[in-house]
Amino acid sequence: MLRAIRWLSLSLLGVVVIAWGVLWLGVHRPAGPAGRLVAFLTGQTPRAAAQGVGVGGVALGGPFTLVNSQSRTVTDRSFRGRWMLVYFGYTSCPDVCPTELQTIVAALDRIGPAAAGRIAPLFITVDPARDTPAVLGRYTALFGPQLIGLTGSAAQIGGVEHAFRVYHAEVTQDGGNNYLVNHSSFMYLVGPQGRFDALYPPGLTATALADRLRRQMDTNG
Ligand code: NI
Repeated sequence: MLRAIRWLSLSLLGVVVIAWGVLWLGVHRPAGPAGRLVAFLTGQTPRAAAQGVGVGGVALGGPFTLVNSQSRTVTDRSFRGRWMLVYFGYTSCPDVCPTELQTIVAALDRIGPAAAGRIAPLFITVDPARDTPAVLGRYTALFGPQLIGLTGSAAQIGGVEHAFRVYHAEVTQDGGNNYLVNHSSFMYLVGPQGRFDALYPPGLTATALADRLRRQMDTNG
């Protein structure tokens, strides 16, 4: 009986390690035979795996068309040559968004002006009905002048949410305009050529985010 339990827990541990390994390799995309193995395991084409367009076989990122706080149309191409650090949220968010935006601004301070200048920090709203360009502009200015707020039509926001696999759901409290929006809270790092590069979980400290950004930019150019 004890032996059976030991074997069971060992094999469970094995499954966890393998799953974690495949996810890690999917994000860090090694070249050569290892890359082809990851492509095989995750179901990506070798080319997609080599370009690092996803995590665990799910493609992340891609083209988008949105509207900035000056009401000008911007696309993913507007940011080519810079890294994009993308975060989704909304300006009436009571807790998570303000925390994460503060973390982003503090992390950019930490990596210094030269490196920070190569990153476009994008705050894309999941609540375009209330987050007009003007509202977004006033909100992002509270955190720092470098933060770029983006909104758009419902279709444009839906498109970029789909590209980044962002989840959001409105939670109506009193049936009026006073609703909360539950939303996923990952940060996405996209490389200067527009390819997805890294996914960061919510709740990182500014120091941890700064370290990861530096490492990613050093490794991938
Ligand atoms: Ni939020």
